[in-house]
Order: sequence, then structure tokens, then C-alpha cells
Amino acid sequence: MNNYSKQDILIKAEGVSLSYGDKLILRDINFEIRDILRPGVVQGQVVSLIGRSGIGKTQLFKILAGLNSPSGGKVTLHDGKPVKAGDMGVVFQNYYLFEWRTIYQSLELAAKKNPKFKRQDIKKEINKYAEQFQLTEHLSKYPQQLSGGQKQRVSIIQQLLNGSSFILFDEPFSGLDVVVLEKIANLILQVSLSDELKTLIIVSHDIETAVSLSDTVFVLGTESNKAGATIKTEIDLCSRGLAWKEDIKYMPAFKETIAEIKAVL
Ligand SMILES: Nc1ncnc2c1ncn2[C@@H]1O[C@H](COP(=O)(O)OP(=O)(O)O)[C@@H](O)[C@H]1O
Ligand SMILES: [Mg+2]
Repeated sequence: MNNYSKQDILIKAEGVSLSYGDKLILRDINFEIRDILRPGVVQGQVVSLIGRSGIGKTQLFKILAGLNSPSGGKVTLHDGKPVKAGDMGVVFQNYYLFEWRTIYQSLELAAKKNPKFKRQDIKKEINKYAEQFQLTEHLSKYPQQLSGGQKQRVSIIQQLLNGSSFILFDEPFSGLDVVVLEKIANLILQVSLSDELKTLIIVSHDIETAVSLSDTVFVLGTESNKAGATIKTEIDLCSRGLAWKEDIKYMPAFKETIAEIKAVL
């Protein structure tokens, strides 16, 4: 069995709601993400936030990233302070890269924000990630010369270089072909093992891929006769023995969990 424990709260949502005019989009969202400790393993956290298209995932994503304020409630970090823009690394669905900067220049800008890097080490760090993510030959290109999957990898490296503990991904698997999707999934897994406090939140409607990478799943859905989406189910994959395993998609318990999620969507 997995040997693990859950420690300090890293991020907490309390009574978060969001409305536009008289339309309630999100209602009473509550959850905590805790630091997971596994003896002998540098283990970050991977949480997926799953829900149908249009349910409010991107809206919640922006609130968690501190980019939008909720209409009610709050999101706080481990120090109890409200999350603010810049606290979290954000990988948007449409990989916003500066069109007028080369990939190298965009990455350099990210690395300069990280107090851990000395100026003279930045080039080496960029080259290291570029190699790992198979982007070496693209460093001098502009974003419009790259494919969607390549741009997404650049977007992920940007967040790795700027050193934030939290990285939020909005629909990281959409619009990718199967081969690229598997690569991105693997990279996300590698990132989660790179630092004890690294916490990745994946917003997705690709249930199987998101769940296969995660230790915890929150399902966003609506309840009958109530407006607004809320967290209908929280699934702790660690306690089910479904976290940190390869080839998990073929396990019967994994398939049962997927069926359970689909039933509440
Ligand atoms: N600025 C806005 N004004 C009014 N409604 C909005 C606004 N932005 C998003 N919405 C609504 O919020 C709901 C959730 O959208 P979104 O979070 O993008 O869904 P998802 O990411 O789950 O597909 C949708 O019904 C959308 O129309
Ligand atoms: Mg969305």
C-alpha cells in the first residue's frame, strides 16, 4: 500500500461564489489542498477539477489564480492570506505567449523573475528545460512558428522557470493528438515530483487523463433545483490506492472511479 500522510493546508477555498448580474455561476465552493508527505519520495500534489463544458471551471480557475475576485467567500494560501495575481503560475488554455518575443526571450523573462537563479545561470537553466521538453531547436523561433503542443510546453517551462509552487492548468489536454497528450501528461507528472511543495491544479473535462495523474479529484456540478455549480464530490485517490501508479488506466478500481465521477457530472 501507499505510505503517505497529509500535512499543512496549502490552499483553501471557503464559501466561494460567483455571479454575473443575477446569474449564479459558482455556489458555496469549499475545499482544502494539503501537503502530502511520502517517506523517501519528493512528492508534490496534483489535484484535478473536473466538470462539464460551461459549468464554470475557467471561472473558478481565475479565482484560484487570484485573477478574478469571487462575489463571495475567499481563497487563501498556507499563510492565511488571500491569493493574489502572481502567486500562482498559470498555464492558460490558449497559451498566451508574447508574439513579438522569441521562445528564448519569453523563457528568459520568466527565469529573471525567479530569485533562485543567478543571472549567469539563466542560459544554462533554459537550455536544460528546452532539452528535457524537446524544444532546443525552437528557442530562436517566434510563437506563431510553433505547433499547439510546442507552445504548451513553452508555457509550462515558463511556469517552471519562474519558480512558483502552485501551477494551475486550464484544459491542458484539449486539442492535442494522442501522442502529444501522453507527453504532456508525463511532463506534468515529472513536474509534480520535482519539489515537495509543488502543487498542480488541473482543470479539465478529460476525466481519464486528469484522474490518472492526480491524488485528489474535485467534481464540479449542479444540484437539482439549485442555481450555480458547486463541488459535488471529492475523491481521495491516495486512500483508494489509485495515486502514483503507472498504467493505472487499466485497473478495475480506476474504471469504477471514472464511472462514479461520470455519474455525478
Ligand atoms: N463575463 C461573463 N459574463 C457573464 N457570464 C459569463 C462571463 N464569463 C463566463 N460566463 C459564464 O460562466 C459560465 C461558466 O463558464 P466557464 O467557466 O468558461 O466554463 P467551463 O470552463 O467549465 O467550460 C458560462 O455559462 C459562461 O457563459
Ligand atoms: Mg473552461
